[in-house]
Amino acid sequence: MEGTERLRLAVQKTGRLSEKSLEIIAGCGISFGSDSRLLKEHARNFPLEFLFVRDDDIPAYVRDGVADIGIVGRNELDERCPDDLEIVRDLGFAQCRLSVAVPRDFPYGGLQWLAGKRIATSYPNILGRILEERGVTAKICYLSGSVEIAPAAGIADAICDLVSSGTTLLMNGLREVEPLYSSTAVMVSRQGFMSEASPRQVILERLLLRIDSVIRAKS
Ligand code: PRP
Ligand code: ZN
Ligand code: MG
Repeated sequence: MEGTERLRLAVQKTGRLSEKSLEIIAGCGISFGSDSRLLKEHARNFPLEFLFVRDDDIPAYVRDGVADIGIVGRNELDERCPDDLEIVRDLGFAQCRLSVAVPRDFPYGGLQWLAGKRIATSYPNILGRILEERGVTAKICYLSGSVEIAPAAGIADAICDLVSSGTTLLMNGLREVEPLYSSTAVMVSRQGFMSEASPRQVILERLLLRIDSVIRAKS
């Protein structure tokens, strides 16, 4: 029997990533309960403990050692603490892009059109970096969610948000004009965890072997 040591995995509680994150773990032959009201539970046949949290908080949980690994969109990682974390696997699912969108009938003539305009986003760091690279100075308005209503509410001229199917934009009378960045779900650990040779790192190695065969079987 193994020790009491368990690898702690942070996954999104509800949202775009949650179902497929658990699907990959289940595909590894790891069984666990399905009561999503539990914020913490452990697998029955593998030394793994789940923490069900908001995806936006996952990078900080892993950085601070509350969790050892997390499954999160590359976008959240790049926005929040890219230097403290390491991508251990690109899981490939939850493909989406961070795009600029404008009200449907607005004329749009390229990124320069945004100079001096107000852009609402939940990703001020990624957007700021890209605008700077492209030499555009705009006013970035941070909103933690419901970014799509900003133009209609009169608080921004354009938005920059994640687009997957495009339905959310469509429903809000917006038009995607400029994809800036693309993202998939990745598994992250804190920097250096993979070379620690700790009991939990050894468990992660075992988990990754299984994950790799799940990914291979899908491709
Ligand atoms: C993103 C984005 C939109 C939606 C777009 O949210 O903020 O709301 O997905 O998807 P669609 O193009 O398929 O309509 P996300 O899933 O990251 O959830 P969160 O903002 O609550 O974290
Ligand atoms: Zn989110
Ligand atoms: Mg959203």
